[in-house]
Amino acid sequence: MSMLREIETRRARRALSPEPIDDTVAEELGRAATLAPSCFNSQPWRIIAVKNEEGAASSDAVRAALTPGNAWALRASWYFVLCTAAHLDCRLDEGRDYAYFDLGQAALALQIQARHLGLIAHPIAGFSPAKVRAGLAIPKEFVPLVVVVVGKPGADDALSEKQKADEIAPRTRVPITDVVYRERFGLPFSSLP
Ligand SMILES: Cc1cc2nc3c(=O)[nH]c(=O)nc-3n(C[C@H](O)[C@H](O)[C@H](O)COP(=O)(O)O)c2cc1C
Repeated sequence: MSMLREIETRRARRALSPEPIDDTVAEELGRAATLAPSCFNSQPWRIIAVKNEEGAASSDAVRAALTPGNAWALRASWYFVLCTAAHLDCRLDEGRDYAYFDLGQAALALQIQARHLGLIAHPIAGFSPAKVRAGLAIPKEFVPLVVVVVGKPGADDALSEKQKADEIAPRTRVPITDVVYRERFGLPFSSLP
């Protein structure tokens, strides 16, 4: 058995090339996000694709909103600002609010499509939502939850030493037996490696 290539090889990499990515490609990524499933087909995502252009008000706002640790994202070609609001999706018993879940599905579809195209698509929470909201005119009811930083792979010279090491480090995950169960909560799926 083999994992789908895009899933296996997707990584949250940071070494970006400043080379631009066409508008048509960015549109395709946005479209991939909108093909994600959602509860009752509510489609609670609102996605603002921001082209990173020096002096453009929108990308200046996103750039200014990045935390210092995310300075690597200044080299992005596009920022996809993914927003949602709880009232746009199913709100069921026992705290089952699906807007955030469905936005995550859209984010992953975007990332997988980007990987398919040989691009880096790296989600970040390290930004000021207030600055992004103000710069992109996001209405108060929406939460700008994540920015997916998109670019072509490039050199690692803008990265910290730790980030450079992360670029080539193997992916780390908790043991699969700790999180994937069989039949009952907590019972490891013992045939998994
Ligand atoms: C919601 C979310 C927020 C994240 N925020 C940041 C961030 O602010 N900066 C960053 O460099 N990486 C960020 N990451 C990337 C994760 O650190 C990365 O996905 C994780 O370490 C697993 O590595 P992998 O994606 O290469 O498998 C974020 C990922 C997610 C899903």
